Amino acid sequence: MKDDTSKLLLLDQHNRQHTYLRLSITDVCNFHCGYCLPHGYKKASQDFLTIEEIKHLLKAFAVLGLQKIRITGGEPTVRKDFLSIVEMLQQFPDIRVRALSTNGFQLQKMAKNLFSAGLNAINISIDSLDPNKFFALTKQNRLSEVLAGINTAVDVGFKHVKVNAVLLKDTNDNELADFLVWLKAMPITVRFIELMQTGTNRDFFDKFHISSQFIREKLINEGWQKINKDSLAGPAEEYQHADYAGRVGIIAPYSNNFCNSCNRLRISAQGQLFLCLFGNLGYSIRDLLQSDTQTLELTNKICSLLQLKESSHKLATLDTGANQHFAAIGG
Ligand code: GTP
Ligand code: 5AD
Ligand code: SF4
Repeated sequence: MKDDTSKLLLLDQHNRQHTYLRLSITDVCNFHCGYCLPHGYKKASQDFLTIEEIKHLLKAFAVLGLQKIRITGGEPTVRKDFLSIVEMLQQFPDIRVRALSTNGFQLQKMAKNLFSAGLNAINISIDSLDPNKFFALTKQNRLSEVLAGINTAVDVGFKHVKVNAVLLKDTNDNELADFLVWLKAMPITVRFIELMQTGTNRDFFDKFHISSQFIREKLINEGWQKINKDSLAGPAEEYQHADYAGRVGIIAPYSNNFCNSCNRLRISAQGQLFLCLFGNLGYSIRDLLQSDTQTLELTNKICSLLQLKESSHKLATLDTGANQHFAAIGG
């Protein structure tokens, strides 16, 4: 049973309340983004959490006061039971934000069913609005399909649609104006994410990382205003402008105090709890996802592991923890 005390159960040693779970349901992805899976998906074993295990997991997190879940991957929509997983989320009404991160390749055909299944937020990756650059970055010639999918998502009624563009030096760092043209009439948010180093992208990172400060400066010079964040929001700072239907966000993990407002926990596709995107360890909780009778043991384990969460990542010292690539841990 959930009561008022549950609101404090996911409090860590640094006084951060965790209300947002990012759940990876597969680490398979059909895109080959240079910063994430430059050589494509390699792993042979695909022993991902079953829908029953996911249900047991969510039951425990609902007891602990979770309010937002994001289904991530890999590319979550490649799973055959993906729609059933989304439908199942509605069994936990207190988890009121049900979000998806996707590369968008199936959005056009799936958006309507996803909306009917109770999903209420979608984030899609588009690193460039230039089809040639999009192909060079992802090795997939699918920009027009992804854009059509975004139109469909807005048309079928999604109110929270965000596009993620990882900022890459000399590649898409001249595209702010193109994205702004798109945002004039499109009621979506485009977020520029600073490229983060992982265990496998060191060369790519050294070549392409660039600070997002110039985007912030341009936006402010052009009259964009910073918006106060919703309590369940992810790490982006967001800007709005009276002349635009859409918004712009910036995710700057290398900035000071980025982790102070962390409200996120992560579960990998194989059932490991990661306290931080760049944590050193994943803690397997899969043995406690096998039956409905394990909820108490599971909630106790999650609460005690949370106490090990550190105050911040250590990217400034080039320490990427156990993060080999975002596909494995859900980004
Ligand atoms: P909203 O809930 O819509 O605000 O989205 P989100 O930013 O939480 O989710 P999304 O999957 O779109 O994430 C975008 C990217 O933000 C992630 O892949 C990471 O690059 C970055 N990000 C999200 N959460 C964290 C975090 O806890 N730490 C760090 N370093 N980066 C994060
Ligand atoms: N640095 C920054 N963002 C990344 N993503 C994947 N890998 C990285 C990285 N190394 C982004 C994807 C997607 C989001 C979930 O994470 O582009 O938009
Ligand atoms: Fe939270 Fe770790 Fe991300 Fe910092 S890097 S915001 S502590 S998950």
